[in-house]
Amino acid sequence: MILSLCDSNSFCQGRQTINFNSAWQFHLGDQRGAERKDFNDNAWRTLDVPHDWSIELPFDKESPTGTGGGALPGGVGWYRKKFILSQKDAGKSTVITFDGVYRNSEVWVNGHYLGKRPNGYISFQYDLTHFLIPGNEPNVIAVRVDNSEQPNSRWYSGSGIYRNVWLTITGQVHIAYLGSYITTPVVSTQEARVNEEIMVENKEQAAKKVTITTRLENAAGIVVASSSTPESLTAGEQKKILQSFSIVSPNRWSIDSPYLYQAVTTIEENDKILDRYTTSFGIRSFVFDPTRGFMLNGSHVKIRGVCNHHDLGCLGTAVNKSAIRRQLRILKEMGCNGIRTSHNPPSPELLECCDEMGFVVMDEAFDMWKQPKTKFDYHLDWEQWHRRDLEDQVRRDRNHPSVFIWSLGNEIPEQWAKVGDSTGIATLRELNEIVKGLDDTRLTVTANNEIGTGNRLLGSGITDMIGYNYNHLHWDSVYDRWGKKPFIVTESVSALQTRGHYDMPSDSIRRWPIRWDLPLTTGNADLTCSAYDNCSAPWGSTHEETLREFEGVDHVSGMFIWTGFDYIGEPTPYGWPARSSYFGIVDLAGFPKDVYYMYQSVWTNKPVLHLLPHWNWAEGQQVDVWAYYNEADEVELYLDGQSLGKRTRKAGEFHVSWSVPFHAGLLKAISRKNGKTVLEKEIRTAGKPAKIILETDHSSIDYKNDELAFISVKVVDKEGNLVPDADNLISFIVEGGRIVGTDNGNQTDLESFQSTNRKSFHGRCLAVAETFLKKGELTVRASGEGLQGGFVQIKIL
Ligand code: GAL
Repeated sequence: MILSLCDSNSFCQGRQTINFNSAWQFHLGDQRGAERKDFNDNAWRTLDVPHDWSIELPFDKESPTGTGGGALPGGVGWYRKKFILSQKDAGKSTVITFDGVYRNSEVWVNGHYLGKRPNGYISFQYDLTHFLIPGNEPNVIAVRVDNSEQPNSRWYSGSGIYRNVWLTITGQVHIAYLGSYITTPVVSTQEARVNEEIMVENKEQAAKKVTITTRLENAAGIVVASSSTPESLTAGEQKKILQSFSIVSPNRWSIDSPYLYQAVTTIEENDKILDRYTTSFGIRSFVFDPTRGFMLNGSHVKIRGVCNHHDLGCLGTAVNKSAIRRQLRILKEMGCNGIRTSHNPPSPELLECCDEMGFVVMDEAFDMWKQPKTKFDYHLDWEQWHRRDLEDQVRRDRNHPSVFIWSLGNEIPEQWAKVGDSTGIATLRELNEIVKGLDDTRLTVTANNEIGTGNRLLGSGITDMIGYNYNHLHWDSVYDRWGKKPFIVTESVSALQTRGHYDMPSDSIRRWPIRWDLPLTTGNADLTCSAYDNCSAPWGSTHEETLREFEGVDHVSGMFIWTGFDYIGEPTPYGWPARSSYFGIVDLAGFPKDVYYMYQSVWTNKPVLHLLPHWNWAEGQQVDVWAYYNEADEVELYLDGQSLGKRTRKAGEFHVSWSVPFHAGLLKAISRKNGKTVLEKEIRTAGKPAKIILETDHSSIDYKNDELAFISVKVVDKEGNLVPDADNLISFIVEGGRIVGTDNGNQTDLESFQSTNRKSFHGRCLAVAETFLKKGELTVRASGEGLQGGFVQIKIL
């Protein structure tokens, strides 16, 4: 497909940032000569990026990625895109930006080699200016992506151009790539001082006299401060310009009120705009106090965070902002306020959403340095690329108000005295200096799991914070040992759960050993883990055990629970056919596991009463019934109207429980405060599956922003009760769009995520649809044998 850029003159002044995602030709496998301009790619598949080819392939027991990598193959893929550069853009500066390509991408334009980028998570840019042909002849971008050497990741990485691509056209005098840096050195309720460093470059052959003007706009678009600087630039010069502003009574960015400003910078020459560049920023002050923890705008905030990997469940790793927003909304409603981008630079969209929705981000760079974790991972690229990758990450992310901490690495093998030599200390010093040289407004940390006195990285005292993974009973001693510096739990918990599956007795905690290479001699034959919060990895804890240590200890400024969402890969404690993780508080499809409501009851003021498990057991079986609640002083449980007693949480406990001999009927809990009912919750024994109920979080989607529709299915009996063991096959059809993914949260389901059929799992499944329409309605219908079907309609905006 041939695209014409900038057809309408209105955008051709200043900077054009063109979304370059549509109509790429794709070929899976290597292809000789595909970098050549005249290569014939007619037989290739046409698709839009972001695209993850691995998610389209079948799960494969023999895949060299292993179940750790989700048992989905990597390989080599090629992408090509043709485009026309309009005559009026001839001679302008034209660059292409890839937000992320997994991995080892090589890029050519019109057959000219532009370069290679091994790191699969970093954003990068190439200058196309001197290779482009304006006019009617198409220009060709070719990208070879090589994810064939496996394993190179401990989790599912995805493969391909899985993030957005942009084409940017500006005058030859312009703001450099990632060339704006905003800081707010003084913040109070009365005033904020804002500084902007702007890197301007003159790529003309001649000297230029220009005026650089920045206007700071509030969220309503009103200019609240501005500054203008006349500048002379010699031919080829790159120059850093400093501008300072003062904003009276600033709206400060916070978790509850994530207020954003924009700095709009223009470069003008004789009233002609050569470039126009917008930087979004927030105004906030913060301190990590060694004893009091995290203070945001002068008030104490406990960072109640989660770690997440970058996949978006059934969408694979292909970035979609509405899918990211959905994940964050689910987490926010739980009371979560922090995200760790484990263990790599995130997509720009994740940080945009965190800025907009109010999350504290720990932005992480690496999962390893020189010492490997898997055979073909980034340690092979370390020597040549680590400086460049880290610099680019900090430059790209340092304007985001949501970013508060730079993590220089996760469980780096060099922390252990027994690994290699002590060069880890020199590496840490170098990384710390790189970050501080580009941004000294945030703190640095490493995520450590060596709790002994021999930890080389903590022993060096180089980072600003003590970062600790797990070991919740050692938080005090570690803090004392390493100098009572600001302390953060960089990773915690690693509990294991399958949504809807319950192993009794609920009070017997299972530290499940890893045994992915062993036959199924221990563990559940159906590869489940119990959702009572009584099951964890041996190095971790149950959610409740860690939460008990966390709340009320001020020097622990926050923690990031492993993990917010289940992710593809790392199916500890099982191996094949398990292919996705059990660690999430929320399953892969986005359905909360029970423990979600424990956090919600502790971390929000919203009244919560959550009852578990389901109420379909064998007659007479002794069943442990749990309730999570808040805003009440007792919960009373009834079976068919008969009281089974009142319970009140003891100090340090986050649930109450009853042991109940099962008989079919109505289980009901009532929470009360001072004798008055706060909430009631009922679970009825369900009959046979009879109907499909469809629900969606949104009544409309915006096609322009590639918003997706997320449709949840419940299989219910004829009275409308969720059938807890329903595994009916559900088929989806869409009018006005198509299904882009389906899922059910079952870690062992080997049906392709792209299938339009999905078995329900414990009565639930999910369909994700995109629309082709620009207006009208998207209709998603679901049917299943012997079930009354259903549909949902979503308006297209
Ligand atoms: C941690 C590691 C994470 C993940 C987790 C699983 O040690 O940092 O990446 O592997 O274990 O429990």
